[in-house]
Amino acid sequence: MTLIETTPIAGQKPGTSGLRKRTAVFMGPHFLENYVQATFDGTGGAAGKTYVVGGDGRYFNDRAIQVILRMAAANGALRCIVGQGGILSTPAASNLIRKTGADGGLILSASHNPGGPDADFGLKFNGANGGPASESVTAEIYARTQDITAYHIAETQDVDLGALGQQRLGDMVVEIVDPVADYAALMEDLFDFNAIAALFQGGFTMRFDAMHAVTGPYATAILEDRLGAAKGTVMNGTPSEDFGGGHPDPNPIWAKDLMDVMYADDAPDFGAASDGDGDRNMIVGRGAYVTPSDSLALLASKAHLAPGYQGGLAGVARSMPTSGAVDRVAEALGISCYETPTGWKFFGTLLDAGKVTLCGEESAGTGSDHVREKDGLWAVLLWLNILAETKMSVADLMAEMWGTYGRCYYTRHDYEDVEADRANAMFDGLRARLGDLAGEVFAGQTVAWADEFAYDDPVDGSHASAQGLRVGFEGGGRAVFRLSGTGTVGATIRLYLEQLETNAARLGLDPAEVLAPINAAALALSDLPAVTGRDAPNVIT
Ligand code: G6P
Ligand code: ZN
Repeated sequence: MTLIETTPIAGQKPGTSGLRKRTAVFMGPHFLENYVQATFDGTGGAAGKTYVVGGDGRYFNDRAIQVILRMAAANGALRCIVGQGGILSTPAASNLIRKTGADGGLILSASHNPGGPDADFGLKFNGANGGPASESVTAEIYARTQDITAYHIAETQDVDLGALGQQRLGDMVVEIVDPVADYAALMEDLFDFNAIAALFQGGFTMRFDAMHAVTGPYATAILEDRLGAAKGTVMNGTPSEDFGGGHPDPNPIWAKDLMDVMYADDAPDFGAASDGDGDRNMIVGRGAYVTPSDSLALLASKAHLAPGYQGGLAGVARSMPTSGAVDRVAEALGISCYETPTGWKFFGTLLDAGKVTLCGEESAGTGSDHVREKDGLWAVLLWLNILAETKMSVADLMAEMWGTYGRCYYTRHDYEDVEADRANAMFDGLRARLGDLAGEVFAGQTVAWADEFAYDDPVDGSHASAQGLRVGFEGGGRAVFRLSGTGTVGATIRLYLEQLETNAARLGLDPAEVLAPINAAALALSDLPAVTGRDAPNVIT
């Protein structure tokens, strides 16, 4: 066991979901080691603890795992449970933490960010409930990165990540497990696999785009091998270190391969995709893209059709920028709907306290109390279970939902890599004027209310401030401005646009057209183009 002297490295502040940096930064001298030691120290030390360790397989995943294991051993950890080959999807890691009663987990991923030597890497700590560390824990970890003087690391040979079973690393046990088995068993508990298998048997067709990322093996094992979907249902199913050179973010822009398939004349019945680490999902029917906000609402309205949720839902939650579609379903069901800041960690207390069963975010995350992460394949399987029970098409399910509850037209505009000073200037300027906006008219839209979102956690009482600037318009429109917390370069401004429509004759319109007036008003009232020097978003989802 060796004690290596080090000094604090700037820029180790965890963001929305752990620490994300350029891979080269993570591979720099002591960078990973400092952060891992700070993680152990900031969470009460590793002595006697059991951790789950795994990642999305991106470049540097395996090397980083070897370092983490040697450091866990040198810090006195009892046991590390590691996915074979260093692979664990984020939801599978969450499940393993819960199932094995581990003290926590170290998950290596930069989620949907590209991977490779010139792309991104990330590391995050999840607690014993299986969920991302809370704000207070990440603050503790960050504080340790700022006063670190040394780290512990064992000098040993590499662990064989490919060999299932137990190995020893000093006094620590390393247990290499099948990354898919426990997760697949959990899915089988929640969903009616027989009904879904019968659906496929009856000729139902689907495409699942794993985007060269971690869900490839999970989706192949569950959809093709267990549920009998045709071979080839899973596309881009072999994980690669740089995700095939792509951007493993399941949205219509980056999952274009799948969108092309689903909008072709011979499109299959159902399409889905997941991201780098398997926690996000995209759902698309034949010629019918479903926004994440609508998907959450649909799942909330029909979850009772799946065995795991047949008793109904305790409540639901959505992040603030997510559309109000699920609120309308919750109201009809007579259950609570919580509005939280962006970031899955904010759902943790609500799930732990049994206040909500289902939750989701506009950023393509949906999940339930079965784990403490969002879960891409879970969402796909719940959709499949609902499709099997209702025998309806995706488009018909959506039309039925909009007819019942109204339609929340929704889109998100991302202005990426904006100069940080300019982005801050825009937010500061708008924040200063928020109180005076009500009653003012911008591009023909009258502001009804405006505020900066803050959150008081109803379970642990913690307070989160400055979570986005919101402007509501007369007639049910809303614009939200938020700075992304997951980027690695510059600032990304997210502009979330929403318009509620309840007129039955106006439920099938083009979202871009419906939302154009709200966009124009948002740009006018924020002065975004002038202050940032950008006149159009880079990505529209
Ligand atoms: C991660 C988190 C999500 C969050 C998303 C968007 O995926 O797990 O909970 O919604 O990032 O974050 P951003 O700060 O980039 O909008
Ligand atoms: Zn992810």
